[in-house]
Amino acid sequence: MSQPKPIRRVAIIGTGVIGASWTALFLANGLEVVATDVAPDAEAALKRFVAAAWPALQRLGLAPGATQNKLTFTAALVDAVKGADLVQENGPEKIDFKRTLYRQLDELLPADVIIASSSSGLTMSEIQSACERHPERCVIGHPFNPPHLVPLVEIVGGAKTAEDTIQRTAAFYTSLGKRTVRLNKEVPGHVANRLQAALAREVYHLVAEGVVSVADVDTALCWGPGLRWGILGQVMLNHLGGGQGGIEHFFKQFTGPMTAWWKVLGNPELTPEVQKKLIDGVHAEVGSRSVDELAAERDEVLLGLIEMRNQIGKANKAKVA
Ligand SMILES: NC(=O)c1ccc[n+]([C@@H]2O[C@H](COP(=O)([O-])OP(=O)(O)OC[C@H]3O[C@@H](n4cnc5c(N)ncnc54)[C@H](O)[C@@H]3O)[C@@H](O)[C@H]2O)c1
Repeated sequence: MSQPKPIRRVAIIGTGVIGASWTALFLANGLEVVATDVAPDAEAALKRFVAAAWPALQRLGLAPGATQNKLTFTAALVDAVKGADLVQENGPEKIDFKRTLYRQLDELLPADVIIASSSSGLTMSEIQSACERHPERCVIGHPFNPPHLVPLVEIVGGAKTAEDTIQRTAAFYTSLGKRTVRLNKEVPGHVANRLQAALAREVYHLVAEGVVSVADVDTALCWGPGLRWGILGQVMLNHLGGGQGGIEHFFKQFTGPMTAWWKVLGNPELTPEVQKKLIDGVHAEVGSRSVDELAAERDEVLLGLIEMRNQIGKANKAKVA
């Protein structure tokens, strides 16, 4: 692996939902950020977002030198990427858009500048095949919304991505306190979105079939398995589910019933009628709360959980040391 280039200045392309949140995270880590977007009100919206996210980031702890003043905005892509050590791309999830953009970025940027895409499900092989010079520095760095709070980043290279790029990208995100997961193979939707999609399919099926209301299926998820999944993953939970006998006993006991349920899991069609049922159910569950109020509720609890996990992580490290 070559000597890693220190990353001090990040270019953000696309400052919508994900780009704005990455911007806040990078600034909180003391980095310089130059952002670009084509939307007419993008600069003001970005600055509003960062200011609103700042108290939460302060609670989690700002890096030395972290300030919102290290953010600059330019409407010109060429200016945004000039002097950048890493590009985090958050443009629309359309393959033609990304391919055209990556071809242009590849022309503009020196070979050692990593170009990381937040893409939720496109493969890097398809995107980077548009790059004629240095496709090896292109990689997927897929965050979970909102990236300024949720630690997960999935890293996956394409057919032409260099191992060195993957390692440097992982080291960079890790240095910001992110939890990275590396995919050894490209699959549509990466890993975490596939997990969500598998669950969403059954949720929609159960509602479509009238087994349960939208509010109740959400309660079943977030007050049951969802709480545990925030602490331990599926396979570790299976280990605990087997009691003292661990996962070996779990498989002895549950292989039969679990695989029988797999055979009857649903495969719903999202017809207009099914969508209406889900939409009506959500509005009944939401009541008069606005999207902003719901997001604030989510972020408040999320922040508390992250703080608690950070404290426990530190305490465990201290015990080991
Ligand atoms: N929304 C999510 O939950 C989520 C989560 C993880 C990853 N992602 C991925 O992040 C990327 C962005 O998604 P989003 O939800 O933020 O979308 P978004 O629509 O909120 O933002 C996209 C932004 O790109 C801008 N844009 C369009 N053309 C541009 C150009 N030529 N140059 C610069 N900016 C341009 C748009 O004006 C917009 O502000 C996608 O690849 C998506 O798959 C989204």
